[in-house]
Amino acid sequence: MQVSGKVLVCDAIDQKGIEVMKKSGLQVDYKPEINPDELIGSVKDYDILVVRSRTKVTKEVIDANAKMKIIARVGVGLDNIDVKYAESKGIQVINAEIAAMTAVAELVIGLMLSLARSIPRADAAIKNGKWLKKELVGIELKGRYLGIVGVGKIGKRIARIARGLNMNIIGYDIVPIDQQFVREVGLIVTDLNTLLSSSDFVTLHVPLTEDTKHMINEQRLSLMKKSVYLINTSRGEVIDEQALYNALKDGKIAGAALDVFEVEPPTDSMLVQLPNVVCTPHIGAQTYEAQELAANVIAERIIQILKGPE
Ligand SMILES: NC(=O)c1ccc[n+]([C@@H]2O[C@H](COP(=O)([O-])OP(=O)(O)OC[C@H]3O[C@@H](n4cnc5c(N)ncnc54)[C@H](O)[C@@H]3O)[C@@H](O)[C@H]2O)c1
Repeated sequence: MQVSGKVLVCDAIDQKGIEVMKKSGLQVDYKPEINPDELIGSVKDYDILVVRSRTKVTKEVIDANAKMKIIARVGVGLDNIDVKYAESKGIQVINAEIAAMTAVAELVIGLMLSLARSIPRADAAIKNGKWLKKELVGIELKGRYLGIVGVGKIGKRIARIARGLNMNIIGYDIVPIDQQFVREVGLIVTDLNTLLSSSDFVTLHVPLTEDTKHMINEQRLSLMKKSVYLINTSRGEVIDEQALYNALKDGKIAGAALDVFEVEPPTDSMLVQLPNVVCTPHIGAQTYEAQELAANVIAERIIQILKGPE
């Protein structure tokens, strides 16, 4: 069955998703560089808005189009969309929930190893003609305690991979964690403060909400071991960056790996310049597989919604 409607794709997405939408009869305009003013000016011509994280779907954007049916996020977090307001206007907001799971989990493992073995520092030194063999004594992951804050889709995937590396896994979530999974990975379920004080690595996988903003602050950082490595691939605002900078500079924690920042690209160069910080530019979901899957999942869901119940 063919469907009809006009779709505005505001951010760069995998072309396969666009082909799927076009094949189903949808008219798709691909404007991955559109700026906020252009978006507000032209959004009224469309039934469906497709975004990744660059485009902010604010009240103003929503109010500029009374006939909008769907806002689709080709990715996981919905914090760039005013979901409550959109839903109050009868607009369906959808995302590609599982698409990034493996990509983010594998990046976290890479970041843990980068911190444990100083891989970025070793690489930079060799390229500068320095042979730091004596200084670069690292630690092994085997037997270490990995604390996962937010044991959802990504957190669970990391736990499964980390078990393969013989790590011990500690988990904290606000909702009860499925018992079968707890048994499968031997998860030690605890409260946040105990997790923070017991882990050798802490990795954050909560959504950005009012409760999780600055969840990792000065007080929580002070609970952590001096030898801990903190990894954040969730959202920058989950950590108070000033507090993190102070803790890293003063040696209160050993290091951090950050894929996300309070402001992106980060303007606080002091934090990213610290030698015990490893940074990546929000590439958690940037794999060919994740991008293709996210675009396809979103295209199929849009078509399904427009077709209505079978
Ligand atoms: N770096 C990237 O490119 C990238 C890519 C994908 C997702 N993400 C981020 O990762 C987050 C997690 O993704 P997911 O697919 O695992 O989501 P998910 O919804 O499956 O899991 C999130 C978990 O966090 C828990 N949670 C919520 N509030 C909490 C709190 N206050 N304390 C403890 N736990 C809490 C939830 O109960 C849930 O189990 C996303 O919300 C997104 O912000 C980042």
